[in-house]
Amino acid sequence: MTNSIECIAPSNIALVKYWGKKGIQIPQNPSLSFTLSESRTTTRMTWEEGHYQTEFLFEGNQSHSFEKKIIDYRELWEKNYPDLKKYSLKIESSNSFPHSAGIASSASSMASLSLCFSELLKSEGVLDLEEKKFFQNASDFSRLGSGSACRSVYGGVVTWGQWREGTSDEYASEIPELTEKWNDWGDAILLVSSSEKPVSSRQGHALMETHPYAEARFKHAKSRMNELYNVMLNEDKMRFCDIVETEALELHGLMMNSNPSFILIKPESLGIIEKVRAFRKETMIPACFTLDAGPNIHLLYPLEKKKEVVDFIKSELTPLLEDGKWIDDKIGTGPVINNA
Ligand code: PMV
Repeated sequence: MTNSIECIAPSNIALVKYWGKKGIQIPQNPSLSFTLSESRTTTRMTWEEGHYQTEFLFEGNQSHSFEKKIIDYRELWEKNYPDLKKYSLKIESSNSFPHSAGIASSASSMASLSLCFSELLKSEGVLDLEEKKFFQNASDFSRLGSGSACRSVYGGVVTWGQWREGTSDEYASEIPELTEKWNDWGDAILLVSSSEKPVSSRQGHALMETHPYAEARFKHAKSRMNELYNVMLNEDKMRFCDIVETEALELHGLMMNSNPSFILIKPESLGIIEKVRAFRKETMIPACFTLDAGPNIHLLYPLEKKKEVVDFIKSELTPLLEDGKWIDDKIGTGPVINNA
């Protein structure tokens, strides 16, 4: 008998960044993110008992570079759940955003894949966990695929890393009291460059092992988590903007003074940063920027100010964007699982 499951997992944008790890994908500091809505990966897993096989199609085509990663990831699951070895698997994955856009898809793709493995094991009676533990387990395995992916298993405002009761270094968890207050925020993803990054996140995390400011950074990130949490709880939007921007620049500062050093922002990224700050000052609209380990800018803003923000993007930022492109995203509610 053949069975099939479809898992859609969104990407996420970190406000306090995970940068540096120890052991097996254990973060050196806690992080906090907004789960997105429109930027997502859909994975369909079809399984059949019989000969052992792993077929992987990315956007309908065979992809050897991804296939190796998928096979390694399957083996990791099999170490914990040997029953998986009974199945021939067909895994078909696609992203809602263009692969060449320069947006990291590892979070959404590993989260959707982890959820598919979890659902397969559940429907075969191998995994029998109540809902909360089921998602913690899926988040734990997502983390092993790509650290930040563990946050994509949940919607709204999500945290990963031990910093308060109920949080863990092994899996992420929702912060419902913040989601309730921040679920109407937009994220305009401003595409500055789609060229391949000169440093992978794996190399980036490794740079923190010998970084002269590593200890100070890890300590500071922990206190920043507490500060951001309180600011968000009190809905102090202007202070939120200051913290989020400082944190993003700190990440890039760390990369600039790593050995070897990397500069991932482009002149256009800097141009946008300056314009966003001027826009906030002039209009008093709490719109702010953050960046992942790349040149693209995430412009975060309250959706009630969408018209003003979109006008600002169109009139002032479009010339700084690659082909004038940006993605109209917002906070989302998390993964969707479709049976059959
Ligand atoms: O999950 P990774 O290993 O791709 O690392 C993600 C690193 C950042 O995007 C820069 C920060 C984060 O917390 O998402």
